Amino acid sequence: MTFIARIDDVEAGYALQVPVEGREPVALVRLDEGYFVFDDTCTHGAASMSEGDIIGCEIECPFHSGRFDVRTGAATAFPCVKALRIYPVKIEGDEVYAALD
Ligand code: FES
Repeated sequence: MTFIARIDDVEAGYALQVPVEGREPVALVRLDEGYFVFDDTCTHGAASMSEGDIIGCEIECPFHSGRFDVRTGAATAFPCVKALRIYPVKIEGDEVYAALD
């Protein structure tokens, strides 16, 4: 498991970009129902999803307003059609870890 952030590093309803050595950054989103980690780069273009808005359980891309469900990675609004890759998350104490590969 890879350390992502402390649980208080991101507020509910917000996203945080997390640089990861040796690979593209991931995004951490906190919802009332938990923490979610996925690839930060939009599957439609070179946008950083962590700069987008959280709307319910979805995140909206800042470039062309495509959306993804942060719980599953599924694309939910055009022009996004390919899912974001999401990663299993584990909370240990006040720290968030994810199983990146
Ligand atoms: Fe994200 Fe186009 S780059 S919707």
